Amino acid sequence: MDGNGHLEFADLEGVGPGTPAGLYFRRFWQPVIRARDLPPGRPKPLEMLGEKFTIYRGEGGVAHVVAYRCPHRGTPLSLGWVEGDTLRCRYHGWRFDGDGRCVEQPNEDRPFCARVTLRRYPTREYAGLVFAYLGDDAPPPFRNLPDLDLPGAIVADPVEILPCNYWNKFDNDHGHIPWVHRATGLRKGRKDIFVLRQETMTETPFGMQSTRFVKGAAGDVGGALGMGQLSYFIMPNIRLFFVRTRAKGYEDSGLWDSKAVWVVPINDHKFAAFDVTYTPLEGKDAEAFVESRYRQQEAEAETRWDLAHKIMAGEMTLEDLPDDMGAYTSFAIEDYVTQVGMGPLKGRGKENLAATDVKLALLRRLWLREVGALTAGKALKDWTLPSEPLVYRAKAAAGV
Ligand code: FES
Ligand SMILES: [Fe+2]
Repeated sequence: MDGNGHLEFADLEGVGPGTPAGLYFRRFWQPVIRARDLPPGRPKPLEMLGEKFTIYRGEGGVAHVVAYRCPHRGTPLSLGWVEGDTLRCRYHGWRFDGDGRCVEQPNEDRPFCARVTLRRYPTREYAGLVFAYLGDDAPPPFRNLPDLDLPGAIVADPVEILPCNYWNKFDNDHGHIPWVHRATGLRKGRKDIFVLRQETMTETPFGMQSTRFVKGAAGDVGGALGMGQLSYFIMPNIRLFFVRTRAKGYEDSGLWDSKAVWVVPINDHKFAAFDVTYTPLEGKDAEAFVESRYRQQEAEAETRWDLAHKIMAGEMTLEDLPDDMGAYTSFAIEDYVTQVGMGPLKGRGKENLAATDVKLALLRRLWLREVGALTAGKALKDWTLPSEPLVYRAKAAAGV
């Protein structure tokens, strides 16, 4: 805070309960795990927004998010067992149903289940992700993204967990592409990656729109940016943009992915990025595409951050990544090393923002305005979602 009680950028770093940004995040549904990473019958500990929880999928298939600790004596419930749709604590066997009611206290002669409750959080599955509402108030209506509701192939990528603040990802801009992703561009023969890019930003009813162009040209030169001329940020933390599909074997297919990325802080020093892509393929083509995406990416996800750490330690370079690595994975590694390498907001030293840093300038302004209003008890902007898929606008801009 400055001397007048106004929020400053570094005040947005903290996300725990009661922090300004933490309160703001808790006003929206957030993805917490990929649906395929939560098999039935196996409770897991979950950390989100600087808080711990327990997540499990009942044997009937419904995902539940409940408190981290058992209300009896505080043992982590992720150590326990799933029985039907209920969760049993490993310490003394108390059992809780999906609504957080205590339904059994096996050791007690005079059970007092009615007086014990386990905090639970509303959940919802959508686009291959499990969402939860982690706020204290009644949840707002769940928001579908019209772009992900079109008929087509939906793939939820392996979740990217990066050991740095969520702003390191929020601040990522369009101008980085020819530099950060140069090695992938060279390896895959993607000339479009090398054009120098600029963008203009405008605030919209849902967040912000970026209009992108090749440096020095009024419009997109030679279709280099294609549908990537437009991209969107849906407040508070969803990017939606359009990229040529990077799936191995589909690089020359002419297909474009719509890519939605939810960036959710795990704590002040770590975030999760939930990437979901929509690709306009249907029927058997869609099945083959999804199957090939999962086969390659799940395997590469095992080792991608080991490679990133070797690069950060100077033991290898991005140019040394294997030629047959899928471009989704190499893009992820390239972004990882630049973003994680920036370290915490505090202690980074003075920034020298330039005219091309318009995206992060507007995003920081919107966040400071809204979070400032929240902490001052003033009215917040009621962000609305676009009523039709934004891909239509991107297609029109690209003339396809
Ligand atoms: S601590 Fe969970 S049943 Fe005792
Ligand atoms: Fe990138």
